[in-house]
Amino acid sequence: MTDTLNWVAVGAPAEISPDTGTLRVVVEGEAVCLYKLEDGSIHATQDRCSHGNASLAEGYIEDGIIECPLHQGCFDIRTGEAVSAPCKVPIRVYPIKIENDVIYVSGESA
Ligand code: FES
Repeated sequence: MTDTLNWVAVGAPAEISPDTGTLRVVVEGEAVCLYKLEDGSIHATQDRCSHGNASLAEGYIEDGIIECPLHQGCFDIRTGEAVSAPCKVPIRVYPIKIENDVIYVSGESA
C-alpha cells in the first residue's frame, strides 16, 4: 500500500514528558497533543478540548484516558471518543508513525 499521508516530523519519543505523558506540538497550524501511554505506545489527538478552551497536554492520563484540566471531562486517547461529562463531542485523532526515533504526525485524516 502506498503511503499517501503528508507526514510532519514533530520530535522524538523522549521529548514527551515522563511526568505528564504529554507533549503539545503544532502540525500544519493545528495544536496537537502527543501522548505516551503506560504500555509505551504513542498517540496524537487535537490538543484543544472539545468542551472549551483547554489544552489537553496539561491534563492527566490514566488507563489510556486523558482528563481535561479545566472541567475534568475525559476522552479515550486511542479513539478520541468523549467518555465522561461534560465532554460529548469527540476529539480528532491523528495518524502517527515512528521512524528512526522521530515521531511523525499526519494532518490528514486516517
Ligand atoms: Fe475540557 Fe471543559 S474545557 S472539560
